[in-house]
Parts: sequence; structure tokens; C-alpha cells
Amino acid sequence: MQITVGIITVSDRASTGAYDDLGGPALKTAAEERGWDVLCDAVVPDDAMQIQQAIRSFSAQGCGLILTTGGTGIAERDVIPEAIRAIMRVEIPGFGEVMRSRSMAITPNAILSRNLGAVVDQSLVIALPGKPTGAVECLGFIEGAIPHAVALAQRKPTQC
Ligand code: MTE
Repeated sequence: MQITVGIITVSDRASTGAYDDLGGPALKTAAEERGWDVLCDAVVPDDAMQIQQAIRSFSAQGCGLILTTGGTGIAERDVIPEAIRAIMRVEIPGFGEVMRSRSMAITPNAILSRNLGAVVDQSLVIALPGKPTGAVECLGFIEGAIPHAVALAQRKPTQC
């Protein structure tokens, strides 16, 4: 099954151009290395409504997998978990559990990341940390479960 991907960088500074978006391009490369088709990308500020609009728009455009990078921490503007939880059908706690536990072997600060996986509309949404290396590391930890989860989110036939 071909996986169609949308990538959303969540960052106030990157959205104004004050800061180069490095996380989005790093995830695009990681997705393409896996043979996935990157259909859409966007940079949005740390604003729940704009995050939700981008996710829903990418889902409506056919992205079975939506990767976000940034906003998972504990700063006041880090709102990605709340933004996703307000529109999701179900959360899949295993994604966050595995990303945090595997990342703890790399940095103790991984415990600060509120990484998560959820189904929104017809898409699997994975919230990754903002640091580009961290986002790609976390994607690597959970990639094995992605094809089956995307097929279920899209209600396509799939086998365990
Ligand atoms: N996870 C991995 N695998 N590698 C990392 O470098 N950085 C951590 C954490 N998770 C990191 C990681 C740090 S320093 C923070 S503050 C949190 O992710 C939250 O990052 P965010 O707010 O940019 O999303």
C-alpha cells in the first residue's frame, strides 16, 4: 500500500521566517527514504486552530499519514497534543509510549516530549518532537506500525 504523507512544522518562529524550518525538510527526506509519497507540507504557528485546520485539510486531500514536528514540550505555546486531542477520533497511546521510552536511551529530556499518535478523520497523525534529529529518531522507532495503522485509519483492507 502506498503511503501518502503530509508534514506540518509547528513553530511560531519558523512560521514568520525568523527561523529556518529544518524539521519539515528532515522529515520529508526520511519519508522519501521509506518510499512514501509526500503530498503536502506546511509551516504553522503554535496556534491550536491553525494546527487543526492544517491537519483536517491534509486529511481531506488524501494524506493517510500526517507527521507534525514541534510543540510537544511543556512551554506555554506547546499546544500540539491539546490541538490534536480536541479533533481526534481515538488516541493510540502506544505511539507516544514507544517514542518516549526509546528516546530516553538517547536523552533524558525525552521525558519532556508529549509525543502521540491519533486518528483524525481518515488519517494517522503522529506528533514528533521539534528537534529535527529527534523527529527522525522517533519516526524510526514507530515506523513498523505505520502501514497497518494508516490502512485502518483509511478503512482499507489490511492484514496483521
Ligand atoms: N526525542 C528524541 N528522540 N531526541 C531528542 O533529541 N529532544 C527532547 C524531546 N524528545 C529529543 C526527543 C527535548 S530536548 C524536548 S524539549 C522535547 O522532545 C520536546 O520538544 P518540542 O517541544 O520541540 O516538540
